[in-house]
Parts: sequence; C-alpha cells; structure tokens
Amino acid sequence: NPLQPPDLSKCHPAIKGDAGDTADCCPPFSDQIEFKLPSPKEPMRIRPAAHLVDKAYIDKYEKAISLMKALPDDDPRSFKNQANVHCAYCNGAYDQVGITPSVALQIHFSWIFFPFHRYYLYFFERILGKLIDDPTFALPFWNWDSPDGIRSAASLTPEAQWQSNRDVMHTQMVSGAKKRTLFFGTPLKAGDLADGNGQGTLERTPHGNLHIWVGDLTREYKEDMGNLYSAGRDPLFYCHHGNVDRMWDLWKTLGPRRTDFTDPDWLDAAFLFYDENCKLVRCKIRDSLDNEKLRTGYQSVPILWKDSKR
Ligand code: C2O
Repeated sequence: NPLQPPDLSKCHPAIKGDAGDTADCCPPFSDQIEFKLPSPKEPMRIRPAAHLVDKAYIDKYEKAISLMKALPDDDPRSFKNQANVHCAYCNGAYDQVGITPSVALQIHFSWIFFPFHRYYLYFFERILGKLIDDPTFALPFWNWDSPDGIRSAASLTPEAQWQSNRDVMHTQMVSGAKKRTLFFGTPLKAGDLADGNGQGTLERTPHGNLHIWVGDLTREYKEDMGNLYSAGRDPLFYCHHGNVDRMWDLWKTLGPRRTDFTDPDWLDAAFLFYDENCKLVRCKIRDSLDNEKLRTGYQSVPILWKDSKR
C-alpha cells in the first residue's frame, strides 16, 4: 500500500538528534482539499540560476522572503511554518497513519524523496509569488553542477575542484544511476521504516554532503542546513532543492530506461501542504511527475558532466 499523508491532529514534538532534544514543529490543521494541477494557461515559472540573476530579481526575491517572514505564526504560509514542514516530515513528528506498532513518517532515504521536495518547493514558491503579487515569480536554483555555480575549497585550484565535482556528478547522474532504484532510492510503502541505506545516488551525494557543508559544524545539531529539523530555516535550502529537483528532470533525458516508476504504491503516496490561499492540500506523487504541468521550469544552462573524461 502507498504511504499515507500524516494526521496533523496527532503531530507530536520532533526529535533533533541522538541526544533526544525535541523541537515543536507541528503545523496548524484544517480541512483538506485534493490537489488540482494549475491551469495550463498559467504563466510558466522559470527558475533562474542563482549566479545569473540581476539586481531587480534579488530585490524581488528579498522582498518576497521578508513578507513571508512577517506573516504571523498562525498563518501556515509564514516562513517559520514553512520551515517547520520539513522538520515535521523528517524528524519523527508524525507516525504513519493506521500502522501499529507506530512507524515514523520519514520522507528521506527512499523513492519518496524527489516528489516530496518537488511539492514542497512548488507551494513555497507560489506563496512567495502571491505575497508580491507576481504569478511568474520563480525561486533561484543553486547551480552546483556547473563551474560557475561553485567555489573551490581552499586546498584546490578552481580547475581541480571542478574536475572533482564533475566526476561526482557524472557518477551520481549517469554511470551510477542507470536504474530507477539507484537514482530515486529504494521503494518505501506504508508501514516501512526509512533508513539511510535506501537513499538514491543524488540524494546521498551531492545533496546530503552539501547540507552538511553549509550547516554550522560548531553547533550541536549543525543548524541550520546540517540537520533535517532546521534545514528549512535557511533560505538556501530552497535554492539547493531547486537544483536537486532540476536533476530529476535532467536524469529523465539521459537515456531510454530513465523513466518514473509506474508502481501505484509510488504514484498514490500522498502528502499534505498548505497552498498560497492557506488551504491544506492533499497531493499525490502521480501529479508531480511533469514539471511543465506544474507550470515550473528551469533556465537552460550548460551541462558539462554528461560525458566522462576518464
Ligand atoms: Cu529534505 Cu535536502 O532535504
């Protein structure tokens, strides 16, 4: 059976880490509606590469984020509540509905990873767009798979850093991800407990490594980006995941067998998100597969890791 969305009325404190400290990240709850794809007449939201945006875009983006931060705590669209969505779905705030003994709901480490984060960004972006009254507003993406989107570590020349990153990208996207389960991660159905072994290639590297790299290693829980409970508090999270989402689209262009799962246990797995009108929406994976139908796209930039140099 497919993974079911959580019962928000049974949300409990989330666990930050092994020491057992907790965080309260439960959302408000209300009646649900079913997700509907946006009208095909809606303008496309084309997400730009962060390193290519101009001053006018940055001003608009900053304004949208500050308006979101200014929303009150009882508004599910507030930045705090949006950040908490990630905490609640990742750090054990929800038990899977109808499963005894209880099993935590966890949207990482399995085939759930890409579609959950796609929806998360979709709603986050639409809320921002509504706050600035711009139906074309699109989040920037962090183009970490390009030499222009990265900086080298102090010990490496920019060329050596890029060669190394490029090899990693080639392995994670091309040579090491020839099968669906390698790229997306292993199946997770209702009642299954996710663990780190189920991660797909890209979720593990570079997605996971970049979280840790951006997090503050001097803090006990590596906040913000280095812990799932706090990662959504860093605006960079949404740029990072823009590129992760872009990789899902790119992977499907890399060869004939690189297609989405057709298993109903994947297609009918569902999540709950608040939309730009404060409605609680129930979203199934099957409606997330085509970014164009979500009216979402990515600025086209050179892709330099498709062919291996070695
Ligand atoms: Cu839900 Cu980048 O993690």
